[in-house]
Amino acid sequence: MAQIKNGFVDEQVDVRLDLFLEIEKLKKEKKAVLLAHYYQNPDIQDVADYIGDSLGLAQQAQKTDADIILFAGVHFMAETAKILNPAKKVLIPDMNAGCSLADSCPPKKFSDFKKQHPNHIVISYINCSAEIKILSDVICTSSNAVKIVESFPKEQAIIFAPDKNLGAYINKITGRNMLLWNGSCEVHEIFSLEKIVKLKIQHPNALLVAHPECEEPILEQADFIGSTSAILNFTKTNNKKEFIVATETGILHQMIKNSPDKIFIPAPPNNSCACNDCPHMKLNTLEKIYLALKHEQPEIILSETVIEQAKKPILRMLEF
Ligand code: 13P
Ligand code: SF4
Repeated sequence: MAQIKNGFVDEQVDVRLDLFLEIEKLKKEKKAVLLAHYYQNPDIQDVADYIGDSLGLAQQAQKTDADIILFAGVHFMAETAKILNPAKKVLIPDMNAGCSLADSCPPKKFSDFKKQHPNHIVISYINCSAEIKILSDVICTSSNAVKIVESFPKEQAIIFAPDKNLGAYINKITGRNMLLWNGSCEVHEIFSLEKIVKLKIQHPNALLVAHPECEEPILEQADFIGSTSAILNFTKTNNKKEFIVATETGILHQMIKNSPDKIFIPAPPNNSCACNDCPHMKLNTLEKIYLALKHEQPEIILSETVIEQAKKPILRMLEF
C-alpha cells in the first residue's frame, strides 16, 4: 500500500509522464469520476469530468454511477459527497485541503450556542463539517440560501451558520433577523474596498461581480452578487465587456474560456502579494490527483451513524 505522508500519497511522479493522459486512463480503468470546484487550478479543471459550484458538485456526487468519486475541492465537499453516496469510494487528492470557514465553527462551541437558543432552527451553509451538519435542520449553498431561508415563516427564529457575511447578506435581502454565527472565509474577507473603488474609477465600464461570502462594504459596491456558478453565468450572458471579479481567482479560467472576448480583472486584496487564491483549494495538484487515482487514497471514511444523521439536512436542501 502506498505511503500517505502529510495527508497525501508520498511518491515521486516521473516527470516524463503525460499526467492528462494517465489520469484519463486511470479514470476509465477504475470507473472513476473527477469532480472539481471552480477554485481549482486550470489544469485540474481541464481534466475534470464536471466543474461546478458547491450545489452542482453535491448534485453530481449524489447521482453518479461511477465506482470512485475523486473530489478536487476541499474536505467538506468530499465529505458531503461521501454522505450523499456512501456506497462509493470517495477520494480527495490532499486530506489537508480544509476550509477556514468550516474551521471557524467548532462543533462543541456551536452545540453550546444552539442550546442557548432552543427556539431557533438551524440553517447551515454547506461549508461546514459533518458534525455541524448533524446539528442543523437544513443545509444551504450560496445558490439556494435565499430560497431556503424564505421557505420558513417570517416569525420562525433562525440561527445561520457559519458564515456571518453570507448570513448578513441574506438578512438584508429577505428582511429577516437571523442570528449569525461569527464565522468567515479568509479568501473573501481579503478584498480591499479602497483598491476596488479605485479600480472602478479606472475602469468605468467594468461591472463588479462578487460572491456573497465577501464583506458588506464590498457587496455594496457590487453590480452582481451570486454563487460561483451564478457569477460565471452573469459574465457569460451580460453584454458588458469588462468585469472586476471579487471571488477566488480559479473562477477566471472558466470565465475566459466562456467569453474569450471579455476582460476579467481579479479584485485586489488588502495585502501586498496581490493574491486571492484559496490556500486550501490550491493544495490539490495534478500530481496528487494522479497518485490518488493510482493508489485509491486518501479516502474519506465516515461512520454509518454520521452518514445517516448528516444526510438528513443535506437531502432536505436537495429536495428544494
Ligand atoms: P460556491 O461554490 O457555492 O459558490 O461557494 C464558494 C466557496 O467558497 C466554496 O468553498
Ligand atoms: Fe473555504 Fe473560503 Fe477556501 Fe471556499 S474559498 S474553501 S470558503 S476558505
